[in-house]
Amino acid sequence: MNNIFCLNQSIKPFKKKLIIEGDKSLSIRWVLLASQANGKSTAKNILKSEDVLNTLKCVKKLGTKVRLIGNTCSISGKGINGYKYKKNLILNAGNSGTLGRLISGLLVHSKDNIKIIGDKSLSKRDFSRVINPLKKIGAKFKSNKGKLPIIIKGTKNPKPISYIENKGSAQCKSAVMFAALNTRGTTVIKAKKSRNHTELLYKYLKIPINIKIKKNYDLIKIEGKKSFNAFNYKIPSDISSCAFFIVLTVLSKKSKLTLKNVNINPSRIGILKILKKMNIKILLKNIKKYKGEKIADIYVESTKVFKPIDCPQSLNSSAIDEFLIIFLVAARANGISKFKNLSELNQKESPRLKWGSKILNLIGIKTEVTKDSIKIYGNPNININKKIVIKNYLKDHRVFMTSVIAALTFGGNWTIHDKDSIKTSFPSFLKIINSLKV
Ligand code: S3P
Repeated sequence: MNNIFCLNQSIKPFKKKLIIEGDKSLSIRWVLLASQANGKSTAKNILKSEDVLNTLKCVKKLGTKVRLIGNTCSISGKGINGYKYKKNLILNAGNSGTLGRLISGLLVHSKDNIKIIGDKSLSKRDFSRVINPLKKIGAKFKSNKGKLPIIIKGTKNPKPISYIENKGSAQCKSAVMFAALNTRGTTVIKAKKSRNHTELLYKYLKIPINIKIKKNYDLIKIEGKKSFNAFNYKIPSDISSCAFFIVLTVLSKKSKLTLKNVNINPSRIGILKILKKMNIKILLKNIKKYKGEKIADIYVESTKVFKPIDCPQSLNSSAIDEFLIIFLVAARANGISKFKNLSELNQKESPRLKWGSKILNLIGIKTEVTKDSIKIYGNPNININKKIVIKNYLKDHRVFMTSVIAALTFGGNWTIHDKDSIKTSFPSFLKIINSLKV
């Protein structure tokens, strides 16, 4: 019973300034890269969610010294491929595709067999997308038909490859970029647009990287076997967590919200562009640069009337983690919204096209779903007062949080299972919700 969250009250008007927890993509990348640097790196404001804590556990098991005090983390790296570990090592990636896939890239040069396992949701997800390129580099793999558990045995002589990443997956791109650190020579990646945190960190760390930005893809070249020094970092807030509060504010009455110090990397702000196209006003203030990343305060207000959207496919990858919550906005829009070419959404912690549609259907919104698209018949006057139960969704943290925002803005009597799922990415989510309800 404890793990069930019940809600039957809409949110009251609020005016707030919030500081949301650290960015997950950056926290995981910082841990993995710091573990390969020479010397002691420190990060402030690291996200203390299960995905990041599992990353710390993995690098510890690989012989790396880790200290975590409050939200400050220190990692003593022993250089590229400097891991020292026992035979028959098992690494548990938990729920995190980013951890499971990126760490595989770092292990292409490992001496012994290393097994990677994950939870029920991660064990359903595709790993052949990283196994295939990493095999070309020379690593050997055993897997459960391209899924976890996998066993990696590195090669003595990792070879640089030319690789075409055509899914728009930053995890695949970054796995190969991490593997490239171990190879002598030039790795070439032609990558469909996706978040570019790894590229920015490589630039900042002076790892030899050359990037040519083209309209539909980036051409990345990396020179391997170049060691890099320990580095300090202050992790900004995660726009993917902020997204829930942006939409809560938009759909609430007479509310205003400022979110401080958020990472607004252009490859992550698809949600802001989509909401602007729907006529929702969002302001960015105090824009600054930090070690290659862009950071700003985000200001948003309640919006009474907004337009449906035929979402440009060019925004898909920069909003990939936000579609569930964007679908809620489309549910309240004045007309039909369309989202296409989104098969990658079904590769996430749960099949999200299905779950997005299911939540909308439960609140009385008509949808048409295919393998890779969804059409949403918006209704500006939705107001529900029936019982809604959300369960058996593979504990996808973003299904839970989207359901809570729907409950707070559309009414109804909600029972939402597996509230622990928020620990994956945004442990303080419900605490912040409670602070807004007073
Ligand atoms: C992530 C990349 C995205 C995203 C995930 C985090 C990353 O996955 O959905 O939450 O940190 O690289 P894909 O690369 O599979 O699209």
